[in-house]
Amino acid sequence: MANKPEIDLEEFRRVLGHFATGVAVVTALDSQGTKVGMTISSFNSVSLDPPLVLWSVAKDSLSYDVFVQAKYFAVHVLAMHQKDLVNRFAQSGEDKFDQFDCREGIDGVPILPEFAACFECSTEYVYPGGDHKIIVGRVHSFEEQDADPLIVHRSRFLRKEGSS
Ligand SMILES: Cc1cc2nc3c(=O)[nH]c(=O)nc-3n(C[C@H](O)[C@H](O)[C@H](O)COP(=O)(O)O)c2cc1C
Repeated sequence: MANKPEIDLEEFRRVLGHFATGVAVVTALDSQGTKVGMTISSFNSVSLDPPLVLWSVAKDSLSYDVFVQAKYFAVHVLAMHQKDLVNRFAQSGEDKFDQFDCREGIDGVPILPEFAACFECSTEYVYPGGDHKIIVGRVHSFEEQDADPLIVHRSRFLRKEGSS
C-alpha cells in the first residue's frame, strides 16, 4: 500500500488563506439563556430554495456543544468598521457581549446592533467534518445595513483599495 503524503498542518492552514473570505459572528443562546458568540470565516451559502447556509464549528471551541445543540442561531456578516469585534468574539469564554446592546431575534437569539448582513436561522442539519461539525441552517429572515464588507486574505484584513 502506498504511503500517504504527510500534510504539514500549519502549511495547509496558511495556503488555505489564499481563499479570501468574509468574517462573521455567529450567536445563539445556551440552555440557561446565556448569550454565546464566536468569530467565524467558514460561513457560506448552500441553497436558495430552500434557503440554506452553512458554517463549521471547531470541536475544541468552548461553545461547541451549545452551537451543535442550538435550535436557532444568527450569523452577522461583519462590516469593515467592525474589525475590533473579530478579536473580541475569537477569545474563548470571555463575556463577549457586555458592550453591545443586543435585541432578541428568532427564539431570543441575540442580534448585534451593527452588521453588514444578518441571517436568522434554525439548525437544519449537523454533519461530521473532521475536527469540526458542519452546521447547516435554514434562513428565516435576513437584513442588511449599508456598509463596506470586512474581508480576510492570508490572515490579514483586506484594505478598501483591495490590497492586503
Ligand atoms: C478570522 C477568524 C475566523 C474564524 N473562523 C472560525 C470558524 O469558522 N469556526 C470555528 O470554529 N472557529 C473559528 N475561529 C476561531 C474562533 O473564533 C475561536 O476559537 C473562539 O475562541 C471560539 O470561542 P469559544 O471558545 O468561546 O467558543 C475563527 C477565528 C478568527 C479570528
